[in-house]
Amino acid sequence: MSDPREIAAQASLLVAPKSLRGESLLITAGGTREPLDPVRAITNRSSGKMGFAIASEAARRGAEVTLVSGPVSLSTPPGVKRVDVETALEMREAVLAALDGTTAFVAAAAVADFRPAERADHKIKKEALACDGESPSLEVRLVPNPDILAEVASRPAEAGRPEFVVGFAAESRDLIEAARRKLERKRCDLIVANDISRSGAGFEADSNAVILVAPDRPEIEVPLAPKSEVAAVLLDYVEAELRVGRS
Ligand code: PMT
Repeated sequence: MSDPREIAAQASLLVAPKSLRGESLLITAGGTREPLDPVRAITNRSSGKMGFAIASEAARRGAEVTLVSGPVSLSTPPGVKRVDVETALEMREAVLAALDGTTAFVAAAAVADFRPAERADHKIKKEALACDGESPSLEVRLVPNPDILAEVASRPAEAGRPEFVVGFAAESRDLIEAARRKLERKRCDLIVANDISRSGAGFEADSNAVILVAPDRPEIEVPLAPKSEVAAVLLDYVEAELRVGRS
């Protein structure tokens, strides 16, 4: 017999109003993992819950949804096409491959800004490391990863820029100022700013509290609520902006 939660999710997919029918949403979620050797990696914190909640709600509203996810332990929401990736380079490739026809891009992933310049084929052994004084040391050179959000948002419309581009920002201080700087630098239409110092919000939590920051507009505060509800508020915003942009 099917899992009752699966049945409820399928039923919810059927009965929800289809306000995003005809739209194609591309969403990133989770943290990327940048390997140093076959055992160790540099990664960014992210459970993927926020991005998966957005994908789930978008599919419920009838959108065609592609979810590009870093390594997470979440099941794929009903009606969502999922592409699993590990590194930022793989995430970029998967995003660019799915971009054609995308009307809205939502970058909820925590992409590692740097990756090790070299990836060892075999596990790095402590015994083989240079010994500086008493203890062995390992120097890792990091190189920058491409900024996927900035790359998508700065495309001209004729080269496939989606009509609406949303970025996220996880900050522990100067939330709004940092979000406004990111909005401008990455040329997106909206930044969803998370205050990760707040309990019950941000990484791994089931709930979130965010501030929506858009160019030349006052900020909109979304109080602490389950990530599914924050996703619904965000998609209401995206829907309204798509309508305005076409009128
Ligand atoms: O996954 P959860 O546990 O539910 O947590 C949700 C979250 C806190 C991870 C998520 O809501 C969030 O805030 N994601 C962005 C985390 C972050 O710190 O982003 P950033 O400041 O490094 O990047 C800003 C934006 O640029 C993000 O939209 C990010 O996806 C994008 N980016 C960043 C770097 C890069 N190389 N490529 C990108 O596309």
